[in-house]
Amino acid sequence: MGIFRTVRSVARFSPSTLSRRQRQLSRAAHIGDLRDMAKSHLPRGIFDYIDGGAEDEITMRRNSEAFAGYEFVPRILRDVSNIDTTTTFLGRHLSSPIIFSPTGFTRIAHSDGELAVARVAARHGLPYCLSTLSTRSIEEVARVSDGPKWFQVYVWKDRELVKDMLSRAASNGYDTIMLTVDTAVLGRRERDVRRGFTLPPTLGLGTLLDGITHPSWTWDFVRHDPITFANISGAAGRSAGTAVTLSDFISEQFDPALSWSEIDWFRQNWIGNIILKGVQSVDDAVQAHTVGIDAVALSNHGGRQLDGAPTPLQLLAPVAHATNGHLPLLCDGGIRRGSDIVKALALGASVCTMGRSYLYGLGAAGEAGVEKALTMLTSEMRRTMQLTGVRSVAEISSELVQITEHR
Ligand SMILES: Cc1cc2nc3c(=O)[nH]c(=O)nc-3n(C[C@H](O)[C@H](O)[C@H](O)COP(=O)(O)O)c2cc1C
Repeated sequence: MGIFRTVRSVARFSPSTLSRRQRQLSRAAHIGDLRDMAKSHLPRGIFDYIDGGAEDEITMRRNSEAFAGYEFVPRILRDVSNIDTTTTFLGRHLSSPIIFSPTGFTRIAHSDGELAVARVAARHGLPYCLSTLSTRSIEEVARVSDGPKWFQVYVWKDRELVKDMLSRAASNGYDTIMLTVDTAVLGRRERDVRRGFTLPPTLGLGTLLDGITHPSWTWDFVRHDPITFANISGAAGRSAGTAVTLSDFISEQFDPALSWSEIDWFRQNWIGNIILKGVQSVDDAVQAHTVGIDAVALSNHGGRQLDGAPTPLQLLAPVAHATNGHLPLLCDGGIRRGSDIVKALALGASVCTMGRSYLYGLGAAGEAGVEKALTMLTSEMRRTMQLTGVRSVAEISSELVQITEHR
C-alpha cells in the first residue's frame, strides 16, 4: 500500500498539449541543446552551412574555447537582489548588451527567417542587423520591426547597387551600417564543398534523400515562396533565384579592391553610424578609430573566413588599451553562454553579437527558438552577474576576470 501512496504523490501524468518540438524546446537547457535540436531537424547540408567554418575550423572552435581561458574573480556579500542588464550603445538604450549579427540566407533555417529574428529583436528593443544577402528585403523587415535596425553591407563591384541599398535602408529607418571587411574572397567552407551546397539549395539525389529524411523541414521549405537574395532581385546581372555556389557568387560580385580610401565614399552616402565588421588586428582597430569609424566589431566571421585568424576575445584587451577605451567594441564570435558576454564586457567589449546562437534556435523551432536563445543568454548573464557580485553593466570591469591558470 505504501508503495502506491508514494508513487501517487510523485506521479505527474497530465496529458501534454505541447507538440514534440515544443516539449523539446521547453526542456532545452542551453544553446548547445538548441544546436542538437537544429541538427536533428535540418537536412545535413543546411545544418552544415550554418554550423561549419573555414578549412580545419580551428578558428571557429577557438572562438568559443577562448572563453574558458578566463575565469571570474567573484565578489561576495554585495546585495545582488536587483540586477540591471541595460546599457547604452551608439546613443541607444538597450535592454541588454546583445546584438543579432547579420546572417545571409536565413530562410533556409526556417521559412520565417529574417522576419522571425527581427521580430524577436524588436520585442526586446535590441538591434537586428540585416545581411546584404538576406532572403527578406530591407522593406519587408522594416514592416515587421519598429526596433533598432542595422544593415550589413558587402561592397559590390557595382557601387550604384550599394548606393541604392543604402538609400533604401535609410528611408526604411535603419540607423547603422555594418561594413563587412573580412570577405575580399569567400573563406573555403569545406563542409559546403563536400556537399556541393548551392544557394538556393538545388534538388539532386543527395539533397532529395536528405529532404526525405527531414520531412518537416522539407514540407516547410516547399510550402513557402522560393528563397532568393531579396535585396538584389534582378540586379547583379543574374536572376536572384539562380542556384550558385556562394564562393562563385562572391568572387563574381564582391569588390576585392576595397581599401581604406573608400571609407569617405560611405560617409558621403550614409548619414548614420558606421561599424567596421571583421577587424582582426590592433593596428587596423587603431586606424579605424583614426579615420572616424563609430565602432568596430572584432570578428573573424565566426571562423568562416580566414582559418588561423585571432579570436575576438583575445583582441579585446589590447584593442581597448590601444584606443584608450574610446572606440566602442563589439565582440563577435563564439558567444554561447551568458557568462561569455560578462567575460567579454570585462575585457573591454561594449556589446556582444550572436550569429549561430540564434540560428540554432531558428532551425530548432522557428521564432520560438530564437526567443528561447535570447532568453537563455540573458538569464545566464543575469545569473552570472549575481554570482560574481556585479549589479549593473557599468560595474563589470577588468577586475572581474583573470586568466585561467590550469586548463
Ligand atoms: C550561416 C551564417 C551566415 C552568415 N552570413 C553573414 C553575412 O551575410 N554577412 C556578414 O557580415 N556576416 C555573416 N555571418 C557572420 C556573422 O555575422 C557573425 O560574424 C558570426 O556568426 C559570429 O560568430 P558566431 O556564429 O559564433 O556567433 C554569417 C554567419 C553564419 C553562421
